[in-house]
Amino acid sequence: MQTITLTQPDDWHLHLRDGVNMASVVAATARCFARAIIMPNLKPPITTVNQAIAYKKQIVNIDNNFKPLMTLYLTDNTSVDEIVKLKDFPDIVAVKYYPAGATTNSDSGVTDLAKVWQVLEAMQKYDIPLLIHGEVTAATTDVFDREKLFIESVLDPLIENFPELRIVLEHITTQEAVEYVTSRNNKLAATITAHHLLMNRNDLFTGGIRPHHYCLPVLKRETHRQALLKAATSGNPKFFLGTDSAPHAISSKETSCGCAGIYSAPAAIELYAEAFEQVQALDKLEAFASFYGADFYHLTRNTEKITLKKHTWKMPSHFEFGTQKVVPIRAEQEIYWQLAK
Ligand code: NCD
Ligand code: ZN
Repeated sequence: MQTITLTQPDDWHLHLRDGVNMASVVAATARCFARAIIMPNLKPPITTVNQAIAYKKQIVNIDNNFKPLMTLYLTDNTSVDEIVKLKDFPDIVAVKYYPAGATTNSDSGVTDLAKVWQVLEAMQKYDIPLLIHGEVTAATTDVFDREKLFIESVLDPLIENFPELRIVLEHITTQEAVEYVTSRNNKLAATITAHHLLMNRNDLFTGGIRPHHYCLPVLKRETHRQALLKAATSGNPKFFLGTDSAPHAISSKETSCGCAGIYSAPAAIELYAEAFEQVQALDKLEAFASFYGADFYHLTRNTEKITLKKHTWKMPSHFEFGTQKVVPIRAEQEIYWQLAK
């Protein structure tokens, strides 16, 4: 049987939710990943150091072998003082910028970058990475063009003004994002999800509307998927793993106005292996999954190993999600790689 052994990977973009919903979600990630960057888009969002510490405690109480790397949610009201505090809290590693209204729980997001200018200056000074949900939000903008327009109209001017700020353009979905990230210096990196490497926008409509394939940024056309595959498997350290695994209860997905988010944690590394195998690049998986993210965040690389075997198994129809249920990616379908226990 074919097997591959990798240094234990980390997930550089993850949603764990909170309260009773967390237990199964933390376990799904901790079965494989050593660390993860925990997104702060709770309700209410994690905007302060104290909230981030309390949230971290909730996570570690579920599994104290798993290392959550916390983030603050940037709002129009974030203070410079809160940023200055971060130098004493090494487990809070970044600040997340959601344009207001861009995605799930982004109502408190930034309405105008001018409002957070001093905060960005402080982040640049203290070398705190800014993680960006890169989509413009104007209702008149075509949903498939939001990332491309964000890069031109927001990201490029931002980088001109803050050339020393470390930035991660999260969950990139377009050829334009690949080209832009490649063209800039090593202060700019990007995460890529497994679902954007494996699916295109046809997967939203195969045989009917597929709410469990709806995420933001939305799936794009095949040429973009090919560009993402090329970037992920290029060996360029600017591109690394971030699942954006984002569970929602079935009742919030299978409804007339369903939430955005794909729950991929139960098969995340297996799906990345499948994507890399599609382009005969399994030899590039370890650095993408286990080295480049740690290097970008100035953290040590993991030393434990994991093994994946080529073995077909069937993803369950659902998992427990607090008192509700969540449908994972590939529910009741085959997965071709499996993490060895
Ligand atoms: C995320 C969520 O549900 O929190 N949803 C998603 O579609 N990716 C938010 C986000 O990362 O945009
Ligand atoms: Zn996300």
